[in-house]
Amino acid sequence: MPSADEILRDRSICICAGSGGVGKTTTSAALAAGLAARGHRVCVLTIDPAKRLADSLGLEELGNEPRQVDPKLFEEADVEMRGELWAMMLDAKATFDELVRKQAPDEETRDRILQNRIYRQISNALAGSQEYMAMEKLFEINHEGRFDFLVLDTPPSRNALDFLDAPKRLTQFIEGRGMQMFMKPTGIATKVVGRTSSMMFSVLKRVVGIDLLADLGEFFQAFSGMVDGFRERAKRVNELLADPATTFMVVCGPQGEPIEEAVYFHRKLVEAKLPVGGVIVNKVHYATEADLSDSGVADELSGPLGDELAERVAANFRDYQALAKRDAHNVDHLARELQAKAVIRVPYMDEDVHDLTGLLKIDRYLFASEAERNQLAAAGTS
Ligand SMILES: Nc1ncnc2c1ncn2[C@@H]1O[C@H](COP(=O)(O)OP(=O)(O)OP(=O)(O)O)[C@@H](O)[C@H]1O
Ligand SMILES: [Mg+2]
Repeated sequence: MPSADEILRDRSICICAGSGGVGKTTTSAALAAGLAARGHRVCVLTIDPAKRLADSLGLEELGNEPRQVDPKLFEEADVEMRGELWAMMLDAKATFDELVRKQAPDEETRDRILQNRIYRQISNALAGSQEYMAMEKLFEINHEGRFDFLVLDTPPSRNALDFLDAPKRLTQFIEGRGMQMFMKPTGIATKVVGRTSSMMFSVLKRVVGIDLLADLGEFFQAFSGMVDGFRERAKRVNELLADPATTFMVVCGPQGEPIEEAVYFHRKLVEAKLPVGGVIVNKVHYATEADLSDSGVADELSGPLGDELAERVAANFRDYQALAKRDAHNVDHLARELQAKAVIRVPYMDEDVHDLTGLLKIDRYLFASEAERNQLAAAGTS
């Protein structure tokens, strides 16, 4: 079973995708840290990292630009740093603005769009815009060529497939009928919209002083010249995702439903002809070698701990064993479904992963062979 090392060899982009809350942000940061320690100049694009993790990596909320993670942090964690780790927190709104700046044919159009009230709302709320902007930023940083490896975290969507649909949704919106209707000044839509809504708009204008109709008209007109540019850009972003230098790592939890979701998502990636490296199953309960019968545990411990506490520890142990059995069963099922693809198990750590030391503990599993992983888990190194 290949390790992250082998999966990522000869690649330059890794995209960690999966359902909400499974550990995508943690895994992306851990992969990036591991690759950097091994000599790469890596940048990880994280999305809404937990505050403690962001703080410990020295990430700043504003800026939308990569910053280098202090190499001393690696030294403190006793890990030799042979490359460079850079990280950034994605700011979807700022990325959308940058894109408009690039695509606008002239300064006047650019300013008209950026200052437009409708644009400001849309750029925040448009379905899929966070997903698309993550890809857009990846594309831009890749194009700049400053790093030899990029790791992309993906937004916390309920459904991992939302990520794949994002470019389509964005271009559909821009090319879509709603937009077209507005952009043709003589179209039927203008007349209909004009008649049915003008009263509402004029009331709004009188009461709150906002001329929405003018804003709408201006927005759609200013945007109309950029449709081709946006479409072309989305095409290139899509090409980058499908490039042989890119690899997707699906991240999932070990419970039944997350495993089924990962199987489904993997199938969809393959159908979309996107390169998949494998699946990382996070927060796994590794089976222990210890073969302690229920009463055996309680009996052994009742001396030092007393009966009540010993029984509680034994119950805990039983629960853990049951979870480990369930996880092993689910991971076997996943491995069968994926055939030869890699399945990497990362254990449920004793505590939240909120700093570089925690990420490097995860790396010991990500960058190990299957046999080494089992040894580590048996030695209780989580
Ligand atoms: N192997 C692990 N052991 C223990 N805790 C973990 C492990 N992996 C992640 N965590 C913790 O689980 C929480 C969720 O992880 P993370 O933020 O990486 O998930 P996510 O998939 O990015 O979530 P979202 O979909 O909301 O973005 C975090 O508090 C993190 O510290
Ligand atoms: Mg996340």
